[in-house]
Amino acid sequence: MKQDMIVILDLGSTENTVLARAIRALGVYSEIYPHDITAAELKALPNVKGVIINGGPNHVIDGVDIDVLPEIYKAGVPVMAAGHDKACCEVKLPQLTDDVEAIKNAVQSFVFDTCKAEANWNMTNFVNDQIELIRRQVGDKKVLLALSGGVDSSVVAALLLKAIGNNLVCVHVNHGLMRKGESEAVIEVFKNQLNANLIYVDATDRFLSKLENVADPEQKRKIIGGEFIRVFEEEARKLNGIDFLGQGTIYPDIVESGTKTAKMVKSHHNVGGLPEDLQFELVEPLRQLFKDEVRACGVELGLPYDMVYRQPFPGPGLGVRCLGAITRDRLETVRESDAILREEFQLAGLDKKVWQYFTVVPNFKSVGVRDNARSFDWPVIIRAVNTVDAMTATIEPIDWSILMKITDRILKEVKNVNRVCYDLSPKPNATIEWE
Ligand code: XMP
Repeated sequence: MKQDMIVILDLGSTENTVLARAIRALGVYSEIYPHDITAAELKALPNVKGVIINGGPNHVIDGVDIDVLPEIYKAGVPVMAAGHDKACCEVKLPQLTDDVEAIKNAVQSFVFDTCKAEANWNMTNFVNDQIELIRRQVGDKKVLLALSGGVDSSVVAALLLKAIGNNLVCVHVNHGLMRKGESEAVIEVFKNQLNANLIYVDATDRFLSKLENVADPEQKRKIIGGEFIRVFEEEARKLNGIDFLGQGTIYPDIVESGTKTAKMVKSHHNVGGLPEDLQFELVEPLRQLFKDEVRACGVELGLPYDMVYRQPFPGPGLGVRCLGAITRDRLETVRESDAILREEFQLAGLDKKVWQYFTVVPNFKSVGVRDNARSFDWPVIIRAVNTVDAMTATIEPIDWSILMKITDRILKEVKNVNRVCYDLSPKPNATIEWE
């Protein structure tokens, strides 16, 4: 194994990720584990050079005062307590909210002077270590992976492919709600360029018939999610001898389902909901990475820029941008107008400045005029927002000339459109998506 590691034990502090990122910024790999890890489990982790018990003020969870196991202090690696007054550690760190500079120095001195860790955390070492760990876990068995074409699943696919080659079986389900060219790009990159074992399922008709006349946004989401699992399950049943399920789980996914459950990743996975009798062991090589690190890993693995820096895209895809009951003609209108918007944003360099941008097509028409005759056609709404965490969002002011050019192209090139609008609403009161 190439890289040294500092383990942070989670006693419910919200500062865990800040600390992990600060240590990684020093060039030393750091992972967060639940407070009740055993000494044996700790020793089984590769290259652990030190442990930080990060209690903060809240190591009472649900009325129970939690602590690390006493055996951790005798596990043979230096232990530092951060804001954790009960621990009998060699090194103590002030509360993380105290003096930031003092904390930085204390952490730096613990990592390098006490633990003698080497600053050898980089993506090349990470990828090589993960390849070794995946091979150790999987051996010569097979791994199944739902490859959506999103950043996380694409990076996991590339990493697993490097580690186990054709023992990785990827399934790409096209639900008919993908953006223009997306399924094609997955096939081109993974099947044609990387020679991956890729099963492509065009389930467009199946999804669209299930969605027929369904106008309620929540109902649409449920149908798309449920059908996705059914299609994936059917493919999984056709395959024999699969023991593992690859997952693009990343660190924020684990945090969202509660840090106390960090070890129980099985309760949170993207293809959750598979039936009981389809039991797989999970392979989650990105589960300790933050989004920017996942992208860096993708670059290291040689994935195309567009795939690695792809803007966020909701699971239900264009389904939530084709408002109300989905029809094929309006879905085409969303897909074609979105492609124009993306092309023009890229040309103007806005793809690197704007967090998320897309078009929406409502389920009502308006009156217009074309070729001297009355038209009654769909409007297209443009949305472009910036955000840090998607909880709130602001509107990116777009150059008038760019908006005019996009409007002009949509009106000329997309069938049955006679009006283009720009959505100026921040979140709140609006949400980013319209449904
Ligand atoms: P809202 O519309 O809630 O969206 O402001 C916040 C962010 O989440 C994305 N989004 C989804 N992502 N499944 C997903 O994977 C979904 O059902 C879903 N709904 C919204 C949205 O694109 C935005 O980035």
